Amino acid sequence: MHTILVLGSGGREHALAWKIAQSSTLRKLYIAPGNPGTGTIGENVNIAVNDFKKIKEFIIENNIDICVVGPEDPLVNGIHDYLLNDKRIENLTVIGPKKEGAQLEGSKDYSKEFMKRHKIPTAKYKTFSVKELNEGLKYLEKIKAPYVLKADGLAAGKGVLILNDLDEAKEELKQMLKHAKFGSASSSVVIEEFLSGIEVSVFVITDGKNYKILPEAKDYKRIGEGDKGLNTGGMGAISPVPFANELFMEKVKDRIIKPTVRGLHKDGIEYQGFIFFGLINVKGEPYVIEYNVRMGDPETEVVMLRLKSDLLDLFEGIATNTLSEKDVLLDPRSAAAIMLVSGGYPNSYQKGKEITGIENVKDSIVFHSGTKFTSSLLSNGGRVLAVSSYGKDPIDAVQRSLTSIKKINFSKMYYRKDIGFDL
Ligand code: AMP
Ligand code: GLY
Repeated sequence: MHTILVLGSGGREHALAWKIAQSSTLRKLYIAPGNPGTGTIGENVNIAVNDFKKIKEFIIENNIDICVVGPEDPLVNGIHDYLLNDKRIENLTVIGPKKEGAQLEGSKDYSKEFMKRHKIPTAKYKTFSVKELNEGLKYLEKIKAPYVLKADGLAAGKGVLILNDLDEAKEELKQMLKHAKFGSASSSVVIEEFLSGIEVSVFVITDGKNYKILPEAKDYKRIGEGDKGLNTGGMGAISPVPFANELFMEKVKDRIIKPTVRGLHKDGIEYQGFIFFGLINVKGEPYVIEYNVRMGDPETEVVMLRLKSDLLDLFEGIATNTLSEKDVLLDPRSAAAIMLVSGGYPNSYQKGKEITGIENVKDSIVFHSGTKFTSSLLSNGGRVLAVSSYGKDPIDAVQRSLTSIKKINFSKMYYRKDIGFDL
């Protein structure tokens, strides 16, 4: 039996907690800091994800045996190393890589170097530091538009710029390198070749040697219908993804997943947890756009619906070195999630709007992303709720979420009605 602590407070963590709560080997589930949604299925603990000291004390006092790290931030900051550096919790299993492995997400240059070293298909690139601004400007003149500029470090999903105009690209490069547009995250900038295709998120769970593939998903990142307008954290997701057929997934496995896991092992990087491959399908050939060292949001809100296997059994596979013996069984149904966001998001928006009607939703699962409870349920972020549904195919699942959403309301609520439009 397991006592679990999930770190995080978004829809991803609510979906992970929802799945963990269904496990036959769960003794007790804690979520720190959690949200009103996770509070209905486990016990929320008021500790922030980067308060390592308090997290460790809580783990010791409550005999936690598995700690699941939801977001990338604490991983990149080294929470895994920190926790295991204490004899009292030597046997704790942390789901999420150590600091070195987390660099796959924490530094674009590190991940590009890793891919180059292990011959994993990705866009051609060059990295420039502050001192190399002039070389960077000259490099932009040599390559063709569109120009892809990426802040090396974590920039809360905002550090990637895609520009069509050379002068604009040069100006942005200056802003990033010289004027710290993304703070220290842009003290180095990766300039890479633009790849044209459709994106897909592929997830594995790994113990650093063996891996199991989880259901793939497609995230709809733009705020507007028809994939127009500003980038967001994700406005909805579907699974399965029709173009990620057997042939494509074989290529993903052979060219990307296997060389990545083998590469980690070869480089002596201990890695346990999730790997999120942000891929792009260029005329049937998969390329890596980015690695993330955690699950995706809102992808988790569909992936967990489609995962039939007991998630704690997979975590146990990591804890006891038996992952290779575990099976990932899938629900035959499709799934879709639609995000309800605050009007104005991803620009400025208001919080604290009363949310009504969730209790009337019977045919969908409502995951909380940015909510809080003070006498009533209030919005507390840009992304507020993820409404997830099963369906006979992804479009049917989207329709079911749309029907459920009609029952929910808060002032200036916005959502995309066209999730899955391109399928
Ligand atoms: P990233 O943070 O690296 O995932 O980049 C954010 C988004 O920018 C991706 O989801 C893609 O839509 C886009 N993007 C990043 N790199 C490229 C590229 N080399 N070619 C085309 N689009 C890209
Ligand atoms: N939905 C994309 C991400 O979680 O990074």
